[in-house]
Amino acid sequence: MTFPHTPFQIRDVQVSNRLVMAPLHEITDQPFRKFIREIGGVGLTVSEMISSEALIRHAVKAEKMMAATGERPLSMQISGGRPEALAEGAQLCEAAGADLVDLNMGCPASNVTRGGAGSALLKDIRLAERCVTAMVKAVKVPVTVKMRAGWDASQKERGEFLDFLRMFEAAGVQALAIHPRTRAQQYEGHADWSIIARAVDAGTSYPVIGNGDVNVREDAFRMAEETGCAAVMIGRGALYNPFIFRQILEPAFAVTTEMRIDATLRLFQILLDLLEPREALHKIKKIGAWFTKGVPGGHGFRQNLHAASDPQALMAAIDALRHQGAA
Ligand SMILES: Cc1cc2nc3c(=O)[nH]c(=O)nc-3n(C[C@H](O)[C@H](O)[C@H](O)COP(=O)(O)O)c2cc1C
Repeated sequence: MTFPHTPFQIRDVQVSNRLVMAPLHEITDQPFRKFIREIGGVGLTVSEMISSEALIRHAVKAEKMMAATGERPLSMQISGGRPEALAEGAQLCEAAGADLVDLNMGCPASNVTRGGAGSALLKDIRLAERCVTAMVKAVKVPVTVKMRAGWDASQKERGEFLDFLRMFEAAGVQALAIHPRTRAQQYEGHADWSIIARAVDAGTSYPVIGNGDVNVREDAFRMAEETGCAAVMIGRGALYNPFIFRQILEPAFAVTTEMRIDATLRLFQILLDLLEPREALHKIKKIGAWFTKGVPGGHGFRQNLHAASDPQALMAAIDALRHQGAA
């Protein structure tokens, strides 16, 4: 039984179990990753997507995205469509302490794909090959890729993702995470796990990590069983329930209302420790709202959260929620 407790290797990088926190833009920053590691259960964390073009012009915002608090192993994900920029971006991530550098071949946002980055690389396998090859040559740490099932349904039907898998192997890619929606689907419909199974069956030398629609404990086991993937990557499921990794590892792990409220408070404390108060408040407004879905008094809390103009108002909102939950 390899899932979920056993370690696995991405070349020489050991991951302690089979659970990966997905990269989420504007969410999986340094504070959020510190928080999710504190809760526990996750084997590998990934930064939010960082633009290689922004990195190489030393844009402050992009440089901040490389901040890390010693979590190991840490993958930093970069995006781009120019091999030279990706190579230099990968070197900057390596110098900033990344254990792995990941290339984003999945982002569907048109402001990203217009520049030939993200899922647009799925339309040009030769360019994608030059991009990963340049990254592999540029750094000593393993290079990994996160991709979608294809640009659109017809590319998916033709199974072109399998050509990419083989190309990655020849280029020296060391792990692949696959989110089996097409770019055209954005986040609509279901993640087609049969694509993950086909990727695993292709028998690549590197591990295939499955991703998409794992929202509760049982989904993770089902994905591992149906696809044979080496590890399961979870995105939105961990936003609604940051305890999901613990629940997958520990069948008896029960999440109480109090734990969910405490988690909201703890994330806010970490945000305040690591960010400017205004930025911390902005982030907790976005993320705290997800954590409290279904908590008694959660609706009123989310209204107070939205209205809070300073950290004190937010602390008061959390206190009020706690009292309501206890009442
Ligand atoms: C708000 C949001 C931000 C995301 N940002 C990124 C990103 O920066 N890099 C990336 O590769 N995927 C990103 N994704 C895609 C997720 O990593 C994941 O592939 C997708 O959400 C499917 O997994 P899930 O069903 O577990 O959420 C993002 C998804 C969401 C919803």
